[in-house]
Amino acid sequence: MFGTRKQTKVGLDIGASTIKAVEIEMQGSDIHLLNFGVTALDPETIVDGEIMDRQMVVETIQNLFESSGIKRKRVIAGIHGRGVIVKKIVMERLPEQDASEAIYWEAEQHVPYDINDVSLDFEILGVDMGPKQMQVLLVAAKRDLILNLADIIREAGLAPEAVDVNSFAVQNVVEMSHELRPEEVAALLDVGAEIINLNIVRDGIPLYTQDIAAGVNNIIRAVQKKFQVSREEAVEEIEVGGSKLDIKPLIESFCKDIAQNLEKSATYLKTSGDAEQLDKIFLSGGGARIPGFVDTLARVQTLPVDLVNPLRRVQYAPELFAGSDPEQLAPQLTVSMGLALRKGRQR
Ligand SMILES: Nc1ncnc2c1ncn2[C@@H]1O[C@H](COP(=O)(O)OP(=O)(O)OP(=O)(O)O)[C@@H](O)[C@H]1O
Ligand SMILES: [Mg+2]
Repeated sequence: MFGTRKQTKVGLDIGASTIKAVEIEMQGSDIHLLNFGVTALDPETIVDGEIMDRQMVVETIQNLFESSGIKRKRVIAGIHGRGVIVKKIVMERLPEQDASEAIYWEAEQHVPYDINDVSLDFEILGVDMGPKQMQVLLVAAKRDLILNLADIIREAGLAPEAVDVNSFAVQNVVEMSHELRPEEVAALLDVGAEIINLNIVRDGIPLYTQDIAAGVNNIIRAVQKKFQVSREEAVEEIEVGGSKLDIKPLIESFCKDIAQNLEKSATYLKTSGDAEQLDKIFLSGGGARIPGFVDTLARVQTLPVDLVNPLRRVQYAPELFAGSDPEQLAPQLTVSMGLALRKGRQR
């Protein structure tokens, strides 16, 4: 199209184990990765989703932006974990302009926090639920989680452009990079250090979204305990896949827990009449980089597993990866890429 505007966006993903940022330029359907960075955080910096050492996070963001050469100051940041609730509800059908207040009242029943302490957002998904009903995707986030994040971003000399939910960011990436048939039910799993984002989607709509309090740290601790080794040794063994210790059974047991969770979600979706079955799994996050993880997860349950590649449709200069393998790193950049790709959703 004539004069399609170039847009630069920055996605910032502050995880328990690494901070990731990407700067992309979009023009029509062309996407260029301009800059990116990944920096590790000390395991004590963010514990149980809570930022324990603010100053450390602020400095790490500053260093990350400086070393990666990201220029744009306005960033789209992500939230996940206990303070974020995504729920699909069915309620009385109302015109959009009247829906807001009604949804607010409805939300009180679905959010386990004081409704005055949460930021609410919603999307009307469909009105074909029966003559007087509509489906609404409710997104509630603890207000202090968002305010705290915005403060940290400002302290780092940046500006928050928007805050989105990590699970939706993963969805943006899968929809951009991978082909899904409209009837296909896909379970998107981002396995991080502390949290697994599970988002089951069909035809662009989240059917079931849950943040599970488990991650690679569980495997690290299990390896430490079983073999009486330091955290560093356990991490090395998991990330590089050394030969010394037989950690396969521990990875397998972690994958079995994931499989069990998926089974429960599938049962829930069947009972609620939302979906007959799950069709496939898309895996992302640092956990997806563990040697043998994809195969193990594919083996302990029945669904095919695909690795998410957020760079698949993205152009970039190979020098950007300075010696490291983009394919290897890509799954870990999924959330930050998806945040940058956010298409002006009302969230
Ligand atoms: N080859 C690898 N390279 C880097 N990290 C790896 C690799 N294999 C496994 N990991 C693990 O992945 C985890 C980091 O993944 P990721 O960056 O997605 O987590 P996070 O976003 O920081 O955590 P969370 O989303 O839970 O807050 C670490 O626990 C790390 O040990
Ligand atoms: Mg993460």
